[in-house]
Amino acid sequence: MKKIIPVLLFALACCLLKPAFANEGMWLPQLLAALNEKEMKAMGMKISAKDIYDINKSSLKDAIVSLGGFCTAEVISGDGLLLTNHHCAFDAIQKHTTLQHNYIDRGFWAMNRKDELPNPGLTATFIVRIEEVTQQALQNITGDMEERERQSAVDKNLNAVRAATAKEEWQDVLIRPFFEGNRYFLFITETYTDIRLAGAPPSSIGKFGSDTDNWMWPRHTGDFAMFRIYADKNNRPAAYSADNIPYKPKRFLNISLDGLEKNDFTMVFGFPGRTQEYLYSAAIAQVLNRQNPAKIAIRNQALNITDKYMRQDPGIKIQYASKFASTANAWKKWIGESQGLQATNAVAKRQQYEAEFQKRVNAADSLGKYKTLLNELSAAYTSFDAPALYRDIFNETVRNVEMLSFTTRVIPLINASTKGEATYNNHRDDLKEYSTGFFKNFQPSVDKEVAVALLELYKEKMPVSFIPAVLQNGSNTTDLVQHIFSTSSLVSATAFNNVISKPMAEAVNILRTDPLVQLASEMGKLYADNNLPAINEWQVKINRLQQVYMKAQMEVFREKKFYPDANSTLRVTYGKVNGYTAKDAVLYDHYTYLDGVMEKYVPGDYEFDVPAKLIELHAKKDYGRYGINGKMPVCFIASNHTTGGNSGSPALDAYGNLVGLNFDRVWEGTMSDINYDASICRNIMVDVRYILFIVDKFAGAGHLLNEMKLVNPKKIKK
Ligand code: ARG
Ligand code: GLU
Repeated sequence: MKKIIPVLLFALACCLLKPAFANEGMWLPQLLAALNEKEMKAMGMKISAKDIYDINKSSLKDAIVSLGGFCTAEVISGDGLLLTNHHCAFDAIQKHTTLQHNYIDRGFWAMNRKDELPNPGLTATFIVRIEEVTQQALQNITGDMEERERQSAVDKNLNAVRAATAKEEWQDVLIRPFFEGNRYFLFITETYTDIRLAGAPPSSIGKFGSDTDNWMWPRHTGDFAMFRIYADKNNRPAAYSADNIPYKPKRFLNISLDGLEKNDFTMVFGFPGRTQEYLYSAAIAQVLNRQNPAKIAIRNQALNITDKYMRQDPGIKIQYASKFASTANAWKKWIGESQGLQATNAVAKRQQYEAEFQKRVNAADSLGKYKTLLNELSAAYTSFDAPALYRDIFNETVRNVEMLSFTTRVIPLINASTKGEATYNNHRDDLKEYSTGFFKNFQPSVDKEVAVALLELYKEKMPVSFIPAVLQNGSNTTDLVQHIFSTSSLVSATAFNNVISKPMAEAVNILRTDPLVQLASEMGKLYADNNLPAINEWQVKINRLQQVYMKAQMEVFREKKFYPDANSTLRVTYGKVNGYTAKDAVLYDHYTYLDGVMEKYVPGDYEFDVPAKLIELHAKKDYGRYGINGKMPVCFIASNHTTGGNSGSPALDAYGNLVGLNFDRVWEGTMSDINYDASICRNIMVDVRYILFIVDKFAGAGHLLNEMKLVNPKKIKK
């Protein structure tokens, strides 16, 4: 018994002190040497922190780009070949797709460089160097400043830093707050704008499993595609030109053919978007008990109705495929997140952590200024609870009723008319272009039913002061929506074009009195009057309190290493290849194989069909040098701490070779954005050997492999 107590105490202390797990954290590459290198080496890393990030010579970071700000990609050849996810390239693939050239269904492979397809608007951004500028940013900032005053003083400081920063004329300066505005880092970046599509597998490989398998393990998706960066003759960023040449990188990633085994070290290098790891417990409880359930309920309705129509009509299926996937993606993540927060007792654990915080603060005079902090946080979140819920319900309703979200773009056009004809015409031309794409994928019958369902929910969930008069007093929502859809000029392309082709005064008159514009305007106005003042007031207060709380946590838990929340900047996360126990008696292995693709195969199914050629390769076990022991590896999982934006990030082995491509997380672990838990949080990667197998054996695009550098680190080692 005597022995057990210290062990228990230790175990308790370790878990109160978040982050206590070796695998948690998204670390800044320039701080690895100081904070992580020792641990990474102890976990099996064979290279140094300097091999990952170095400003004096080329390092791994020179091979990593932010793709368009929403995904990550990496250079894998001396000729600027980029690897990323199929779902990151999907927009590009879709834009090049026609009935004759159906790249979505059949895939696309440029058999020579001339065939690579340009993608206006798509960018690839390298990080040249990172510098801390906290001192300059917070110069003359005092604790008693009002939040707005503080922000404008910081902005002024940052402008001065920007102006004083030495850079080449083709480079940019980006400064971002970290640790809730307690530290600032500056990034010198280079953004390339001529990014061409080099190859993508058919969706039956790149999107295999689609929404059913999304966020799930075991997974069998070949979620990859390739681009190539083009540069001017000086290797600098340049707008698309036929004369541009393939970019010569400072560094590209070698590719390992050896794969990884259970417990092998692995790291992921990329641009995670957003996490909230340092929330006060009441904020987590709000996500769990209020916001997620409301958002999930709204999308449940929208998805059920849309799914019903998609199953009835193949045309509607095509129109709604991409919208459905994006609505379902967040919806499914929230469900997993809530389950995970519950399963790991996230709120109670955070409360324990806060109790420890308060105990230490009470015990030390020097920390006296934090004595009331948790109480203030508690009061602020209590006040924020209802406004935050109404914000989510309003936003989700407008987002998921397509006619309402379309109308939120028409209202600014009406407002623009007060600024004169030129301003109006600009808005009108933009909206005209937008509306073409919108109506192409719009089906009134679907949206009508969604509108009725979501407006009913809105009436049910929102206080009466938020409900437009037309929806009140026993009015029939179905009749109202029916009336709107039969009289509004915003529900069809022809009617809408007709109106905005008229002279400004006439068009604006018609739009102003349109029943849809009136409904959306009133909903918007009631929301703005009833909720925006509270949102603005409490959001500012909470931001400030969370900022102080962040600082306080770092002072109170001095023995801990803190990492900053994700903010779309370059990070390294590391862990080990490993399975997990999803729930009682459900144990997941760490690797999947092509045999599993065949197990899931449903001929003709839009999610689980398998291309004939792949079936044939599997039947013959024709895996070339990519298979292992007669099996073809497909996906694997590890305990790397990743989030949205890490899609397309390289998974690297102990030597810094590319072994996989990150594309998802396991469902049970999606709460890692708020509460990472090493027992069930896993990232999902496609094995690079599967990628090479598909390129070489399936697509016959083996020429692309000639420009890559393939290595066998395990064989060399032996
Ligand atoms: N869940 C992954 C992510 O968050 C993949 C999404 C794309 N795939 C899909 N079936 N919607 O982006
Ligand atoms: N699929 C996500 C992305 O597009 C990555 C999965 C995650 O959220 O971890 O970035």
